[in-house]
Amino acid sequence: MMILGIETSCDETSCALIKEGGHLVRHAIFSQTELHQTFKGVVPEIASRSHLEKINELVEQMIQGNQKIDGIAVTIGPGLVGSLLIGKMTAEALGWVWDVPVVGINHLEAHLYSSFLEHKELKPPFMGLIVSGGHTHLVLVEDFGKYKVLGRTRDDSAGEAYDKVAKCLGLDYPGGPIIDRLAKKGNPAAIPFPRAHLPGSWDFSFSGLKTAVLYFLQNLRVSSGSFIGKKNIGANKGGLKIEFPPLPLKTVADICASFQSAVVEVLVRKTILAAKKFGLKKIAVGGGVSANSFLRSELIRNGKDNKLKVYFPSLPYSTDNGAMVALTGYYKFKKGFYDDKNQEALEVNPSLPIKNWI
Ligand code: KG4
Ligand code: ZN
Repeated sequence: MMILGIETSCDETSCALIKEGGHLVRHAIFSQTELHQTFKGVVPEIASRSHLEKINELVEQMIQGNQKIDGIAVTIGPGLVGSLLIGKMTAEALGWVWDVPVVGINHLEAHLYSSFLEHKELKPPFMGLIVSGGHTHLVLVEDFGKYKVLGRTRDDSAGEAYDKVAKCLGLDYPGGPIIDRLAKKGNPAAIPFPRAHLPGSWDFSFSGLKTAVLYFLQNLRVSSGSFIGKKNIGANKGGLKIEFPPLPLKTVADICASFQSAVVEVLVRKTILAAKKFGLKKIAVGGGVSANSFLRSELIRNGKDNKLKVYFPSLPYSTDNGAMVALTGYYKFKKGFYDDKNQEALEVNPSLPIKNWI
């Protein structure tokens, strides 16, 4: 069985081939990061146009040498509607031309499965943590296609908090990898930012932390006289632009490390607690923030202390990629959970929830 995976939910155009046994054969990603950097965030129109320009080239790379395809897996949500539509229409057209079935894939489910790409010993049941740019979910994975979403963020996702804090600090987009790097030079105990543990619930909340960083920065700039001049402070009311001289690198590094330590502490504590509470021995993490070096080391260390094995995908499969989509499709085809007759299953849905197949 050879499955072509197509991922276009946000700002990465990606295709991959998965063969029998769930092994990756080919994988290609085109990242749009540079296109969105000036805007410090993803611009939906630019994203969908770029997917349209790139997708055929990536598909061609997958089918070189007359590669035979038995099925196509495509992300149908959650994500940006225009971007999702490019992937869906491509998949449908190819499915029609090649006369092969097409299965719709939930992007979050694919993140949950991303560790399977390289850790063949990993099988459900396990505790899944999805930490991406748009979502933060704690999911009990009972079996392939059988989930209990225990908790989710009540406001910002972990990735969103990273990106917004980076923006406040004047750093580039996406902010997560930059904060990760800068935090290594800072003191995680420098600033006691709040931790929303939300006892009695498996939910998360990161917007209070983001606001705390914002207020901390405002106070710091006022008290350290970091404003360029009195004229500009007054100009605030007059609607003129206020410019700040850059903060010292050590201060930025301390803010990054302290913010990151607050995010990671909550993620690690809740994930470990949930795994223990539900009697699981394994944890698998997916989504862009799973690339974070501090989250990785802290979760692995705490996991060891609690006799839990923690799985992460390697860096190229932590952020959005077609390989995880192809692999999720492979499991769906293999287990017969695809509906090529039911075209409704291929409707894109920007806020597609995680659903059980069984
Ligand atoms: O899963 P993903 O690639 O896209 C979505 O599905 O949203 O996640 C993107 C998010 C961004 O917010 C980005 O800042 C964050 O993942 N990210 C990181 C790191 N690498 C990417 N956050 C923290 N540390 C990183 N090393
Ligand atoms: Zn993602």
